[in-house]
Amino acid sequence: MRFTVLTLFPDQITDHLGKSITGKAMQNGIISVEAKDIRDHAINSYGKVDDTLYGGGTGMLMQCDPVYDSWKEICSDGNKPYTVYVSPKGNVLNQDKVIDLSKKDHLCIICGHYEGIDSRVIDEICDEEISIGDYVLTGGELAACVIIDSVSRMIEGVLPNQEAYSNESHMGGVLEAPQYTKPENWHDRKVPDVLLSGDLKKIQDYNRIMSLIETMNKRPDMFDKLEITEDDWQKILALKKSL
Ligand code: ADE
Repeated sequence: MRFTVLTLFPDQITDHLGKSITGKAMQNGIISVEAKDIRDHAINSYGKVDDTLYGGGTGMLMQCDPVYDSWKEICSDGNKPYTVYVSPKGNVLNQDKVIDLSKKDHLCIICGHYEGIDSRVIDEICDEEISIGDYVLTGGELAACVIIDSVSRMIEGVLPNQEAYSNESHMGGVLEAPQYTKPENWHDRKVPDVLLSGDLKKIQDYNRIMSLIETMNKRPDMFDKLEITEDDWQKILALKKSL
């Protein structure tokens, strides 16, 4: 999958994503990440890309043309990428959206800075506006990295095995069951006996019910959306009692 980020700070993107799992996926050619400097399409030779706001207000707004020309350049092969503007006004990112985006061939993410970008160019070229949460960042670069990281790990070959993501939190609308490694007993906190039993069926049943309990305790909003069978309710209550 191909990612292109239009930004005033390309190093922020490549420094972060060039490492660890995303870095390896780039080296293996499973994903490509290109960060394009919007300033290469500045209005003048001083690198001007922003101006004051019409109607008053503090700060500077990024102008249409540098953003539009940067985007047009990546469309020059005749293919329009799926284009996303990252901003606190967008739809809040979740795992369903991440999976959706992982099916695109080419994703272009546009990062704003200062007060953001002139709305007209966003309206003209963006398919969607995405926020990574209800808070405001100093620029869109961290949001772009979050999107690329979460989308990349849904692409076959990026993680070592499929199971690594099919059972994890937010897949199927539930959180993952608590997980443990050695030692068996740490600070008098013992790993549940069933996980040491070697009985795969019992372990799977236990983890399935623990994942429902974890969701109920930590994300009641997600739990409310689940349809719990009578049988599972009984198992949840019995397991909760034994904890
Ligand atoms: N830019 C500034 N704040 C943001 C947010 N919460 N999500 C995405 N992009 C942003």
